[in-house]
Amino acid sequence: VERVFSGVQPTGNLHLGNYLGAIVNFVKMQETHNCIYCVVDMHAITQGVDVWGGPVELARNTREVTAAFIASGIDPSKHIVFNQSQVSGHAELAWIFNCVARMGWLGRMTQFKEKAGKDRENASVGLFDYPVLMAADILLYRATHVPVGEDQKQHLELSRDIAQKFNNDFAESIRNLGANDGLFFPLPEPLITGPATRVMSLRDGTKKMSKSDASDNSRINLTDDADTIAQKVRKAKTDPEPLPTEEKGLEARPEADNLVGIFAALSGRSKADVLRDFGGGQFSSFKNALVDLCVTKLAPIAGEMKRLVADPGHIDAILNDGADRARAIADETMTLSKDIVGFIRRR
Ligand code: AMP
Ligand code: TRP
Repeated sequence: VERVFSGVQPTGNLHLGNYLGAIVNFVKMQETHNCIYCVVDMHAITQGVDVWGGPVELARNTREVTAAFIASGIDPSKHIVFNQSQVSGHAELAWIFNCVARMGWLGRMTQFKEKAGKDRENASVGLFDYPVLMAADILLYRATHVPVGEDQKQHLELSRDIAQKFNNDFAESIRNLGANDGLFFPLPEPLITGPATRVMSLRDGTKKMSKSDASDNSRINLTDDADTIAQKVRKAKTDPEPLPTEEKGLEARPEADNLVGIFAALSGRSKADVLRDFGGGQFSSFKNALVDLCVTKLAPIAGEMKRLVADPGHIDAILNDGADRARAIADETMTLSKDIVGFIRRR
């Protein structure tokens, strides 16, 4: 069975984009793959403390993402759920990969440029190095499939480049150790699937829905209650035209396209199909239906998350157990990786 790995940062405000772009696919992959889902707390601290909120917030958010995984249907007894910092192999493999990846590769990452902004000299080294740690996350388990949202595509390509260069640079050593005929790390494949790989802001259909948007009205959080969801959907930006009757009528209408896309994704239908019901009508009645759909799909998850986070001890036990099982796989990769590089290890 092929192995799946994916991660979500505990930086607060888990939203509908995370859910539709990532978590829904995580749940589905459980049927066909061995899955490892990681709360990437080490990635979370790459931006200033004003972004990640400090130690108390980080621990709270780590438990909240874990709760969201479980409330959405991820089964931590059949698959692995844990937080990154509990398995030291992530940092160790990242160091080896730091010496494989090139400055030029990282300098081209659009997410770094966006997050660093104008003051690049003042960005943390960790933010620049973020995609290398991400490659280590995946390859530590020699995972072959990585479900993510559209925004992670470039990072996944970099992971492949790192795997390939490592295999190449150490080909002789890998062969000598009999570790898979010169190919030690598989080239991980991104799975950017589902009807909503890029959910946009409710306030601006050209910007992606994001945890860090200053306006809470720009996103539907997984913890929002029914009233909050209703308010946000009713306030969502639209244009003055009625809804189009065909999908191509959504072109150049980003807000309409986004809302129809969300409806389609949550109801498991195509956009064309949704427009057969609502095309030609006004946004107000469509929005009423969208509120009902969002509340029906999301309120049970919010309720279950609330129940789970009320018992942090239980969540921590799940993370500890997941980390133990993750470590068993990671240790094997690290032992071999160290031998391949020529690091003497305790025998
Ligand atoms: P992050 O919150 O950055 O850790 O993202 C966790 C997962 O959610 C990743 O797979 C992202 O690609 C995905 N994701 C984040 N924002 C969106 C969005 N607006 N639409 C679709 N997927 C998203
Ligand atoms: N960078 C990803 C994001 O922000 C999170 C992440 C970290 C990840 N490590 C990963 C995703 C490994 C997939 C695989 O969304």
